[in-house]
Amino acid sequence: MTRRAVVKGVGHYLPQRVVPNSEFEKSLDTTDEWIKSRSGIERRHFAAKDETTSDLAAHAATAALKMAGLDANEIDAIIVATSTADLTFPSAATMVQNKIGNTTAYAFDVQAVCAGFVFALTNANALIASGQADSVLVIGAETFSRIMDWTDRGTCVLFGDGAGALVLKAELGDGTANDRGVLACDLNSDGRYKDLLYVDGGTSTRTTGMLRMEGKEVFRHAVEKLAATTDRALEKAGLTADDGDWVVPHQANIRIIQSTAKKLGVEMDRVIVTVQDHGNTSAASIPLALSVAVANGQIKQGDLIATEAIGGGLAWGAVALRW
Ligand code: UT7
Repeated sequence: MTRRAVVKGVGHYLPQRVVPNSEFEKSLDTTDEWIKSRSGIERRHFAAKDETTSDLAAHAATAALKMAGLDANEIDAIIVATSTADLTFPSAATMVQNKIGNTTAYAFDVQAVCAGFVFALTNANALIASGQADSVLVIGAETFSRIMDWTDRGTCVLFGDGAGALVLKAELGDGTANDRGVLACDLNSDGRYKDLLYVDGGTSTRTTGMLRMEGKEVFRHAVEKLAATTDRALEKAGLTADDGDWVVPHQANIRIIQSTAKKLGVEMDRVIVTVQDHGNTSAASIPLALSVAVANGQIKQGDLIATEAIGGGLAWGAVALRW
């Protein structure tokens, strides 16, 4: 028998304020048409002034716990994937722990930028597989609106705020790809590419800083690396892209999503797409997409899913799981 990390609940939270592309036309040399055609984004949500990343995360976590039918104190570990924690420390995860009323778990953040959720899910799976935890709350949450340079039209129109969460529980499977739960993971990073996507603040500057990106270069790496990591994760599970029901990609740009699907040989009707409504929510984008797809009946129990992401670092990876 094999210990598997099985999804028992999923939930998401989006801040109330919706910002359509047209709002940027007032302050920047840009158009709704450019943003839509180059990125696929039509709108995004921005957090209210007094709303923090851990607030968004706690709302998503509460929804996921409700679906799982679990009390907050039945959770053994809380992992938050974020690059926009409320404070430098303590972790957003300990803040979420306090907000949902959990006193039994150990909580920590994972920082792998837009690939953060894939890294956090892989860590959650490792905790469950090794017996370090029986139930794990994995959250992706971001307030990228706080690190935008509102004068840089090449970046500030692309990102949004939001949170998504999964509740994972240990279950025994027979060790085959027919098991429910996480089947295989593939993680990668290459620090030589740090200048392609970074925030120009931190302890070295004593400022929070703003996001800087060489969009074209990141795009070039994205398609090639995402297709390769997805193939590797599926191969580790003894599967190919043909076996899958859904690809749930990081939602950065519809053109990256389409090109990666094409490279994988997957038709777009098997790809979950939410980028038009959320923009790029970094580590929150995959759990948000999973939650939306479950809510609208696309993803069902037993479906085979490949999820993949790339972001600053560069860091990238993929997870194959059966819902
Ligand atoms: O989540 C982490 C991973 N991040 C990503 O995956 C982002 C990857 N990159 C991208 O999504 C795309 O590269 C962008 C959407 C950022 C840009 O699309 P592009 O097709 O690569 O455009 P570009 O950067 O080559 O810019 C083309 C033109 C430039 O003008 P010139 O130099 O040709 O005169 C830009 O200055 O578009 C201009 N431009 C804009 N025009 C109107 C850049 N941003 C804007 C804008 N509105 N908002």
